[in-house]
Amino acid sequence: MVRVKVPATTANLGSGFDCLGMALELHNTVEMSLAAGLSIDVQGEGEKDIARDERNVVYQAAVRLFRQAGLPVPGLKIRLVNQIPVARGLGSSAAAVVGGLMAANRLAGGAVQAREIMSIATAMEGHPDNVAPALLGGLVIAVPVDGEIKCIKLDLPPELRVVCAVPDFTLSTRLAREALPHEVNLSDAVYNLGRVALLVAGLMKGELELLNVAMEDRLHQPYRYSLVPGMKKVLAAARLAGARGTALSGAGPSLVALADRNCELIARVMRETFRQNGVAARSMVLPPCPVGAAVFESH
Ligand code: HSE
Repeated sequence: MVRVKVPATTANLGSGFDCLGMALELHNTVEMSLAAGLSIDVQGEGEKDIARDERNVVYQAAVRLFRQAGLPVPGLKIRLVNQIPVARGLGSSAAAVVGGLMAANRLAGGAVQAREIMSIATAMEGHPDNVAPALLGGLVIAVPVDGEIKCIKLDLPPELRVVCAVPDFTLSTRLAREALPHEVNLSDAVYNLGRVALLVAGLMKGELELLNVAMEDRLHQPYRYSLVPGMKKVLAAARLAGARGTALSGAGPSLVALADRNCELIARVMRETFRQNGVAARSMVLPPCPVGAAVFESH
């Protein structure tokens, strides 16, 4: 049996649309072994909703891996123990893809290279900003180039925490992408370019006071306000309560605040402001996760 532990991720971080993501200390575990036929058991987040047949994303990723390795797809026994809320913008789908690929690759004797796993995972997800930090941990800048992913992993300041406010409704990435324009104007592109450069450099140098400006965005968040009731107000309230910077997490609907103080207060204020806007939400205060997906047991 192979066991793979994959971290949650928050993508974009405001200005880093589709190219920046951070791994979080919250994990899904995929256990996989060869069997006669397919059986899938799900515990924890999504246990009522996640498909237990061929439509299951972990299984689909495993199938992709065996095909890529040129092997017949075997019968599989899969057990999923999930901590990552499903379809909330915290990388549950990327974790399923990465977990399925890595577990199947171990069963396939490591036939597929890590670089290829990154490319397959990105192709399955459509963009690399969740799968890259799920695979590598830390803060990752990831850019697709001719079918390969060029990426750099960076370590984060130890005092940094990510306060997540997780609404009780789901939002599909497809829907959240349909809200975006096909073209943006040059001044909005320049607005984000400068900010994402500040964001990466500010995090590297521990200059957290830059985050407030550095996480601002004009490429995706303004178009998504209407999909998350109270979003602007929740983000503003978090900053007032002491957050260094705030953003929609990935394609939403979760919101994140980066902070090095007042984390419980920020979490409470975010939940309360969501509630005032008719949204029930739970919160989590998570450190960034320095390590990516790992096969940590196999016997
Ligand atoms: N960057 C994607 C988006 C989501 O904002 O639509 C995460 O992959």
